[in-house]
Amino acid sequence: MVDVILGLQWGDEGKGKIVDYFAPDYDIIARFQGGPNAGHTLYVDGKKVVLHQIPSGIFHQNTVNLIGNGVVLDPVTLKRECDTVAAFGIDVRKNLFISERTNIIVPTHRALDKASELSKGESKIGSTLKGIGPAYMDKTGRNALRAGDLLDKTFVTQYIKLRLKHQRLLDTYNFNEDISAWEEEFFEAIEFLRTLNIVNGEYFINNKMSEGKKILAEGAQGSMLDVDFGTFPFVTSSNTISAGVCTGLGVAPQKIKQVLGVTKAYCTRVGGGPFPTELENATGEELRKIGNEFGATTGRPRRCGWIDLVALKYTCMINGVTQVVMTKADVLDSFENLDVCTTYHVNGKESVEVPFQITRVKLEPQYKTFAGWHTDTTAIRDAANLPANMSSYIQFINEYIGAPVKYVSNGPGRDQIVKL
Ligand code: GDP
Ligand code: IMO
Ligand code: MG
Repeated sequence: MVDVILGLQWGDEGKGKIVDYFAPDYDIIARFQGGPNAGHTLYVDGKKVVLHQIPSGIFHQNTVNLIGNGVVLDPVTLKRECDTVAAFGIDVRKNLFISERTNIIVPTHRALDKASELSKGESKIGSTLKGIGPAYMDKTGRNALRAGDLLDKTFVTQYIKLRLKHQRLLDTYNFNEDISAWEEEFFEAIEFLRTLNIVNGEYFINNKMSEGKKILAEGAQGSMLDVDFGTFPFVTSSNTISAGVCTGLGVAPQKIKQVLGVTKAYCTRVGGGPFPTELENATGEELRKIGNEFGATTGRPRRCGWIDLVALKYTCMINGVTQVVMTKADVLDSFENLDVCTTYHVNGKESVEVPFQITRVKLEPQYKTFAGWHTDTTAIRDAANLPANMSSYIQFINEYIGAPVKYVSNGPGRDQIVKL
């Protein structure tokens, strides 16, 4: 049995906190896609930790964590992160496993990411520059190095071949930054990676399922950043949606039970691309300030706006969401009124569908306004004590998207969550 937690917006919905909260109910937490572009924030013993590569169940002593084949893995980031978790007394050799089919990010992937973004000028994606796009290109282009290759004596030869191929591409971009320091730390990290548990991920997870173990698949990014269904080309390079669990871990579709979709009570986006409900005004600034909306991976200010129910209903549909977790509801505590986008005007015509190319149409979001609740909700633990206006806000969202909001998160802390 596999349950899934994934993001329903443009990432940073608070997946890390929610996975950490549910982790004690599961035996295995498995990342199925994405790479170090992710930044999942948790609070452990009151200390803030941001995870990029390791699944968010790592701080629970009895939980096994798997980096699945659908992930792209940067050995340097992983090594650094292993040091961070070791400082909390976590033994990664005991409860971290890596699929041998996981694709490796090499230094030239990062260089290619940078060169590609620079070449795009104004229309750049706003990539995290972690080498994600080029690494997935080498996967589908059938050139990649995978974790299992590290244990093979041909690894260095394969690496050199790939590097030469990348160098020819970098030359066409006139990219000539010296990356020898990156290479040095890469090979150090490779040595470290060889000492970790590299396993056959698909047998590992299916055998555990046969033993009756419970698995939680942890998504990275958000559904609107999905390479197929997101705001292409302003997306990441993997399938961030629930279907990605099957290909990213090697589990069959009928094994997936609950799909928990995480959404903020409002909306943010970091990087370029369309964002219909963005507020480029004082209200947007207020959301950024109160919500502390700065990227966990790059530190960039996040673009902020109202919740977009047209997009949210779309991502619930694509993912088969069974339950919704609404995070950062406390950020709205002090707002006078709250707007909720219920329809789009697309080239002047009303629509409740996400168009094929948001950038090619004139899209004007239409809103319904709700009165705020003007109450500090951060200490509430019981649904009965939630302000009536917050309950109305949630009720409307439930009905609109056709999936029930089952949890409301009202602060970054592990215990700041209310079950409805
Ligand atoms: P992720 O990428 O989906 O895991 O989300 P991030 O960690 O990038 O961003 C979420 C941010 O919001 C982090 O700083 C969390 O500590 C914080 N956070 C999560 N849930 C809540 C919440 O309910 N309220 C508030 N105020 N902050 C939250
Ligand atoms: P988590 O898991 C928010 C965005 C980048 C950029 C686009 C492509 O923390 O929610 P990439 O580096 O993948 O080539 O960038 O996707 N992006 C994210 N935005 N949260 C993330 O992850 C993101 N990962 C990538 O800002 O716009
Ligand atoms: Mg994040």
